[in-house]
Amino acid sequence: MADTLTITDNRTGKSYEVPIENGAIPTTALLQCRASEDDVGVRGYDPSFTNTASCKSRITFLDGERGILRYRGYPIEQLADQSNYLECAYLIVKGELPDVESFARWERNVTLHTMVHENIKTFISGFRYDAHPMGILLGTVGALSTFYPDASDVENLESRRLQTRRLIGKLPTIAAYAYRHIRGYPYIYPDNDLSYTGNFLSMLFRMQERRYKPDPVIERALDTLFVLHADHEQNCSTNAVRAVGSSLVDPYSAIAAGIAALYGPRHGGANEAVVRTLQRIGSVGNVARSVAQFKSGEERLMGFGHRVYKNFDPRGTIIKKLAYEVFEVTGKNPLIDVALELERIALEDDYFVERKLYPNVDFYSGIIYQAMGFPMTMFPVLFAIGRTAGWLAQWAEMIRDPEQRIARPRQLYCGEDERDYIPLDDRSPAGDREDMVSDDI
Ligand code: SDX
Repeated sequence: MADTLTITDNRTGKSYEVPIENGAIPTTALLQCRASEDDVGVRGYDPSFTNTASCKSRITFLDGERGILRYRGYPIEQLADQSNYLECAYLIVKGELPDVESFARWERNVTLHTMVHENIKTFISGFRYDAHPMGILLGTVGALSTFYPDASDVENLESRRLQTRRLIGKLPTIAAYAYRHIRGYPYIYPDNDLSYTGNFLSMLFRMQERRYKPDPVIERALDTLFVLHADHEQNCSTNAVRAVGSSLVDPYSAIAAGIAALYGPRHGGANEAVVRTLQRIGSVGNVARSVAQFKSGEERLMGFGHRVYKNFDPRGTIIKKLAYEVFEVTGKNPLIDVALELERIALEDDYFVERKLYPNVDFYSGIIYQAMGFPMTMFPVLFAIGRTAGWLAQWAEMIRDPEQRIARPRQLYCGEDERDYIPLDDRSPAGDREDMVSDDI
């Protein structure tokens, strides 16, 4: 049997052989299906890309049915248990686990870039005291493109490598500065004698002590959370980074686009929304009544559901275990009982089971972040720190891919046919015209 599809166009009776490669067909093959001489051919229609591959990638493998997640072939369970974020960032960006010398060089090179230009402090001080830190991160990372004009040379390998080290190094610093700004605390400079995540905790939480000593359990747990969030193939924010990056803009602007996409409640903003939901439910006794509201469609159960995972999100399984390790140090976050009851009831309810809605990476992560002392608005910022390595690897893979050009999808036009302009004085009052589409604005 040949690896092809035979498509018969019943409008003309013609048949076409289309090759199947990597389990996909090139949708441009549909252009040959023409009903007449002036027909442009058949177009694929797939709003929000539920069944469209936008690229070939070697970075992350997901199997939604079996709950499998691998970075460059390594299972997430092994990386979460045995690796660390900087090593995973190297793996995701470069494709292989580093040897001792390569890791030492990588760690040194990233650490060299944890400082930010002093003007960044002035820039961040311009935000309101109550600005959402994700908005501060979005604006500040975008602004970095004005500090590094050399970054626009995106087709230069050494420039891509330098910006990659700069962004992985600086994201925690900017995130910490955003936190310190909304708290009204002075900024803390990087302490490069600490680990990547230890330094982040120091920039966040150091007060009057001469040197901050991170709690090793908290440091390890947060580092593991960065590992779990490091990449996730073509999710919404990665798609944004690839699409914006395909115009050959600098990587700071492309990563800012990813931060903007991640900010939304359907994506990285869900971890903040989950804790707000759990707080509103308040207690285990209120859970059953709340589930009825989610089933009615009044609101979504945030932290549940996924475009790809249709059984379980392997990251959620790991995070749930991690929570109890953190609680050993911080004390138990009572919201975990509400979350566990919510999960128990939902997983027994046909509404969720039929729709294959299971806890995703965001369902339990916020409970841990809150126990660590982060305000809810910082939760998506923590997600962004981890995902920066993935965004950069995906961006570089797109730049290097000879099959990739500027991302410019087509549409199915359903609007008005050609019509002539009507001078203002000759137009009938809008109220007389039922077809005025005022709800479009
Ligand atoms: C992340 O893509 C990634 O990989 C993302 C991510 C990553 O690492 O990058 O994994 C991180 O973003 C995780 C998802 C975080 N978001 C949330 O938890 C928000 C709540 N979940 C949803 O809004 C939703 O499930 C999505 C956005 C995650 C997935 O949306 P889909 O695939 O477009 O599914 P859908 O909206 O078409 O829903 C299918 C059905 C609908 O019901 P019907 O119209 O068929 O009756 O399921 C229902 C939805 O109403 N549904 C939910 C629901 N999610 C979907 N009903 C109640 N609660 C929910 N959470």
